[in-house]
Amino acid sequence: MTAQSSIRDFKDHVGKDVEVRGWLYSRRSKGKLHFLLIRDGSGIVQGVMVKGEVPDATFDEAGHLGQESSLIVTGTVREDARAPGGFELGLKSLKVLQDVKDYPIAHQEHGPDFLLSQRHLWLRSRKQAAVMRIRARIVKSIRDYFDNRGFTLLDAPIFTPNACEGTSTLFEVNYFDDAKAYLTQSGQLYGEAGAMALGKVYVFGPVFRAEKSKTRRHLTEFWMVEPEVAFATLDEVMDLAEGLIATIVGDVLADKRGDLAELERDVSKLERIKAPFPRITYDEAAELLGKLGTGFVYGSDLGAADETALGDHFGMPVMVHRWPHEVKAFYMKRDPANEKLALGVDVIGPEGSGELVGGSQREDDLEVLQGRIKHHGLPEEPFNWYLDLRRYGTVPHAGFGLGLERTVSWICGREHVRECIPFPRMLYRIYP
Ligand code: 4AD
Ligand code: MG
Repeated sequence: MTAQSSIRDFKDHVGKDVEVRGWLYSRRSKGKLHFLLIRDGSGIVQGVMVKGEVPDATFDEAGHLGQESSLIVTGTVREDARAPGGFELGLKSLKVLQDVKDYPIAHQEHGPDFLLSQRHLWLRSRKQAAVMRIRARIVKSIRDYFDNRGFTLLDAPIFTPNACEGTSTLFEVNYFDDAKAYLTQSGQLYGEAGAMALGKVYVFGPVFRAEKSKTRRHLTEFWMVEPEVAFATLDEVMDLAEGLIATIVGDVLADKRGDLAELERDVSKLERIKAPFPRITYDEAAELLGKLGTGFVYGSDLGAADETALGDHFGMPVMVHRWPHEVKAFYMKRDPANEKLALGVDVIGPEGSGELVGGSQREDDLEVLQGRIKHHGLPEEPFNWYLDLRRYGTVPHAGFGLGLERTVSWICGREHVRECIPFPRMLYRIYP
């Protein structure tokens, strides 16, 4: 019996025969040779079939196989520095599970709309699979980062009775007997309850925003990791966010060089990402943007052009803190040094990746918070449980949310976040 091996593990089988189970990525023939590029999900390898070394029927069959035919092959693993992945497979046998004809995605340029409607198949392409492997590595990096620092994972609900990030981007759903529920925009409020119970928690899951924005940075369903820390200040969670981003970049560089190369990512831009990151106040950012000439108006939120300009200027994630409270959410605490400012931070990524993190110190005073809820035109009743956190043992606390797809898109050097989640949900797109 020949040992079964993932292509990823070929280094452990050099000179030996292995069985590989996968799909035909592409094929070319030259005289008495067939070159079958085979992928198995872990990697891709060139299989070489020589006429005379396999039964004639097998050689003929291999010469007609269509793209994405499913197959099981055996062969000898040979080191070959020029081959993709560094190995070649000298084929000895071929078993075809399905000979595919007319696979919809050929190896040529297709438009984004076509590819998105074929997303269930597009995921098989080399670059898309590389993005998915890097995404999975980033998720592990995030979990390890918090698990190693004494945080407890806390899963927040998806159905919620109230808004977290304002009412304008809520997806409403019917929830029995004419009651309304909303898909969560952020697990933060539940994270705060968790922090009061467990000290340090992180919520990590999908969130939903009914944003009618058709930009390359917006999804209607995306993943966010949200740490929340009892007794922490804004500055402390800024340190936490900085450490998280530096750790993610370091882990991907350490483990996923092959996938970054597949994506033709300029890794020198990632290698220079090291803490400490530049930290500037909103006022300083406004002044800098004036000099950079983006047309920024003091008092407004940063636009895409402002974010790109800041990212380009520093070539590093930049932490913009202490914002005019009018542009920030109801739960942010005011800066005791200046009541006009909220103790919030946005981390803006380099290379046009935009806002990667939004966070803040939370308002911890019951009456002040009740006033903010009213001021933002929100009903108090659904927030009653949240207000309990300020009634029973309130303490200073802070946290942030990091958008997973924006982080993946920056690290992978992808133009659009839609390639950074397996099945993107966007304005006008919910298929497949
Ligand atoms: O800045 P946001 O809205 O912050 C919150 O939701 C806070 N409650 C987080 C917290 O303090 N616990 O969102 C956080 C991050 C953004 O910085 C961005 O990276 C990402 O989530 N994000 C989106 N990603 C993709 N598509 C969208 N529509 C996004 N909206 C926000
Ligand atoms: Mg934000």
